[in-house]
Amino acid sequence: MKGIVLAGGTGSRLHPITKGISKQLVPLYDKPMVYYPISVLMLAQIRDILLITTLEDQHDFKKLLGDGSQYGINIEYVVQPSPDGLAQAFILGEEFIKDDSVAMVLGDNIFYGSNFINILKEAKSNAENKKASVFGYEVKDPQRFGIMELDENNNVISVEEKPEQPKSDYAITGLYFYDNSVVEKAKSLKPSKRNELEITDLNRIYLEENKLKACLLDSGFTWFDTGTPDSLLDASNMIRTIQKNRGSIISCLEQIAFKNGWLTIDELLDRAEALRKNEYGQYLFKKAEKAKTKKLEK
Ligand code: G1P
Repeated sequence: MKGIVLAGGTGSRLHPITKGISKQLVPLYDKPMVYYPISVLMLAQIRDILLITTLEDQHDFKKLLGDGSQYGINIEYVVQPSPDGLAQAFILGEEFIKDDSVAMVLGDNIFYGSNFINILKEAKSNAENKKASVFGYEVKDPQRFGIMELDENNNVISVEEKPEQPKSDYAITGLYFYDNSVVEKAKSLKPSKRNELEITDLNRIYLEENKLKACLLDSGFTWFDTGTPDSLLDASNMIRTIQKNRGSIISCLEQIAFKNGWLTIDELLDRAEALRKNEYGQYLFKKAEKAKTKKLEK
């Protein structure tokens, strides 16, 4: 399975913060925003990742992430020339996706919670069975999002993009798993009233084919779409609180890569060495030392 991180857009809702820097490079507490969505794909065991950005921001992302090898992954880059909708990602990504299934995560979406790995596994197996998966999260302001309506067995019965009168409080979060037919489906879409290829229209095609599955993220789960200054600060505060309480780092890409077997202990130590002057690097040292001791004990 391939992965796409969509980090285009002008970030105009966050100006002036995002006037000089891409929104997805703005820090959320101790790391750039884009780390969080990348970690979601890595948790889903996806190693080949396409990063879609604007032309002017691509250089900054390359400076930060390179070819991904420091995290044990392969990152390729493509430009979204203008913000023509989320579904356009699958047209821009056609050559990268080839004949594979694909997961897409929006560059400004933060997911954190227990059992996430199992939920991701379920979505992956849906994609292997030619089905699409969307992830629902109850919100207080459903007008702001794509919304899914569910029946009593949690089957999706309708999807709507930012409805004035939402049929439910279940937002469709910015994480989507599809089979390979998504590329042809995306090509068949017509631009919406706001002149975008809408991901919700794409999901509706799957729904009409009876192939749209809902994975629900329960109340113990946290999801943020960091669209406003308040949600940026809320997300940063939440990450800080959890990290301080638990003594762990959320979305630490090197640690996930190591757990997945994509970096060796020595490679982890190298990454730690490069960051030794800060807490993030010290944390990597701790993880590498712990793994070394464990290995010696065996
Ligand atoms: C987009 C999608 C919407 C989804 C949201 C999640 O909205 O169009 O369906 O609920 O992402 O973050 P946007 O944030 O681009 O307005």
